[in-house]
Amino acid sequence: MGKGRLLLFPLPFQGHINPMLQLANILHSKGFNITIIHTSFNSPNISNYPHFTFESFSEDTLAGYDTSLLGNVKNVILLLNLVNKVWIDPFHDCVKRLLSNSSVEDPIRCLIPDATLYFTQAVTDLLKLPRIVLRTSSLCSFHVFHSFPLLLQKGYLSIEDSQSEAPVPEVPQLKVKDLSSTFKIERDALHVMLLAIMSGTKAASGLIWNSFEELEQSILPTIQKEFPIPNFTIGPFHKYFTASASSLLEQDQTALSWLDMQAPHSVLYVSFGSLAAIDKTEFFEMAWGLANSKQKFLWVVRPGVIRGSEWLEPFPVGLLEAVSERGHIVKWAPQQEVLAHPATTCFWSHCGWNSTLESICEGVPMICSPSFGDQMTNARYVEAVWKVGLVLENGMEREEITSAIRRVVVEQEGKEMKMRMSCLKEKVNTCLMEGGSSYRSLESLVNFILSF
Ligand code: UDX
Repeated sequence: MGKGRLLLFPLPFQGHINPMLQLANILHSKGFNITIIHTSFNSPNISNYPHFTFESFSEDTLAGYDTSLLGNVKNVILLLNLVNKVWIDPFHDCVKRLLSNSSVEDPIRCLIPDATLYFTQAVTDLLKLPRIVLRTSSLCSFHVFHSFPLLLQKGYLSIEDSQSEAPVPEVPQLKVKDLSSTFKIERDALHVMLLAIMSGTKAASGLIWNSFEELEQSILPTIQKEFPIPNFTIGPFHKYFTASASSLLEQDQTALSWLDMQAPHSVLYVSFGSLAAIDKTEFFEMAWGLANSKQKFLWVVRPGVIRGSEWLEPFPVGLLEAVSERGHIVKWAPQQEVLAHPATTCFWSHCGWNSTLESICEGVPMICSPSFGDQMTNARYVEAVWKVGLVLENGMEREEITSAIRRVVVEQEGKEMKMRMSCLKEKVNTCLMEGGSSYRSLESLVNFILSF
């Protein structure tokens, strides 16, 4: 007899689907049967997971939802609040059905939803099913989100000079100006959502993190106080199983064949993940900054990343030529392989947590252009705590971009960042080995689930 079945429920966005499906693979390798609950919105590619069962519900609750709206982060928050309302009943019916069809040989042990799907708490309470949440961000950024009511109350979010460089002692490493981009969207909707996520997380039986103890040691005791439930830091997930199978977009393999033709440590990789968007002026500044840096680069320009454009139409002909001489542009890349490629030397990133962790695991220093949410905190930790990259302080500005590329790729400062990144990479390898922190935490998680 196996160890029983787990129901996993990802938030249907790329940055959340990847870690949830990696977690599914990890737990499957530990002997659990897996059912992934999903909807037709950003549905995972089922054929890549023949070893899992998939259960779809609520086909029509988001029918007609215009996904191009998601280019604006405000709409992501509104969509999150919406799904936390409209999915309650169909999700409840789905889990109830699964429970009544389950057998003694294959009992359902618990639900593991994304922590942002806070409505699931009410459902599992009703059905008396244990619930362990997966938080896909870093611990440090979740602490900042947890501090939102305090920061609001202390008046940091209404400081007139929202570009102030003043520190915020309540959330060390962050500056006042970082708070306005962290919480820049629909304050009221965001407030409601954060309160609900925090109380839904505290009410869970346990909390799983895609991170590792050695990386976030400084914040771990605070998180344990804020969330006094068993915390399992079992990451980085993609070192057990890659995310390629859960990619919603086709990964352009020419990225790798192009890298194969480049010298070792010579290419800057540029990508801003699946949601962040920029305007045309910012795009031109990026292109000029890259062209003027005289470095080789691999640039992911995701369709829709430039607001108001399909793909590369905003490029003036001369600039496109200047850029093409040194660079290769793709719509979506096999990112983990790109970062692991010997030709890659630096990652210019929006600092989504998956991207940050993937860069750390491959020992690649970073240039950070955070856009919203957790990205600002991740970027500050990259620069000030781990000291493995630097933040572009003035948004997209060609001179600053060119100078940052020089600092990280060419100068001594960059070599030191690379050395510190290599140390972190070593720590990743150790934490996953038998007896390492993530290895032990995963063992505890398995025993915890078996105790239900
Ligand atoms: C979102 C939020 O923006 C991010 O801040 C949060 O931490 C998670 O949810 P996203 O913007 O997509 O995620 O960024 P990130 O977390 O970096 O995830 C992107 C994933 O897509 C990574 O696993 C990366 O490997 C993959 N990817 C990215 C590709 O496979 N190809 C690409 O070209 C770019």
